[in-house]
Amino acid sequence: MRTQIAAANWKMNLALSEAEALVDQLIAVPHQLNNNQLVILAVPFPYLIAVQNKIAGKKNIFVAAQNCYTKKSGAFTGEVSAAMLQSIGVEYVVLGHSERREYFKEDNSLLADKVNIALEHNLKPVFCCGEPLAVREAGTQDKYVETQLQESLFHLSEHEITGFIIAYEPIWAIGTGKTATNQQAQDMHANIRSVIAGKYSVTVADSISILYGGSVKASNAKEIFSMTDVDGGLVGGASLIADEFITIMNSLK
Ligand code: PGA
Repeated sequence: MRTQIAAANWKMNLALSEAEALVDQLIAVPHQLNNNQLVILAVPFPYLIAVQNKIAGKKNIFVAAQNCYTKKSGAFTGEVSAAMLQSIGVEYVVLGHSERREYFKEDNSLLADKVNIALEHNLKPVFCCGEPLAVREAGTQDKYVETQLQESLFHLSEHEITGFIIAYEPIWAIGTGKTATNQQAQDMHANIRSVIAGKYSVTVADSISILYGGSVKASNAKEIFSMTDVDGGLVGGASLIADEFITIMNSLK
């Protein structure tokens, strides 16, 4: 069974006190996460250590950074390196979120560099892909997502990509309240898995956790997560509300 993951993407939200209160609420209830289930909290850089301290000793809950830079160190004012994240014990990093692609002009080739530097520092990427509305309307979403994977991930060795985490987030569903239908999510996840099987092998494809993102909330998580190729979710807005995210965590297969 593939790892099932509830990942929270807080984006640029919350003050430290609010972030700590949210984590306190998330860990206050006993969760029955089994060995196949993970919770990942992608929090703003300044809160990584504080949140790590809060979840210390909790089984199957981890923090993630929301980004990292392509270089190891040096004169890159304002950037955060994978080496720095590794040095504070962070294990996961979200890469290629559509907001980074859109507002910070991150393209597939830059993201390949970020994936490489993350792996060099033992960080596990949560690699985001997904098409804009115009591509979905033109019906070319499969090819679009395939190109994102090819250009950012398919240089990796079989060993490097085994067990990878990919988040499929159709841009038209992010923060819009408009979720992809269960079938749209399943179809794309199956497509991603078959493209990976074609490039690597069925065994590799079966090892990859593919999360769905885009307006996941307490009321729809269970049905989306129940689809065969959906291995959990990357959750924005609803991850900022403790009760919502707790229900989402409890909706994992
Ligand atoms: P949303 O965001 O859940 O608010 O739609 C998802 C994401 O951007 O990861």
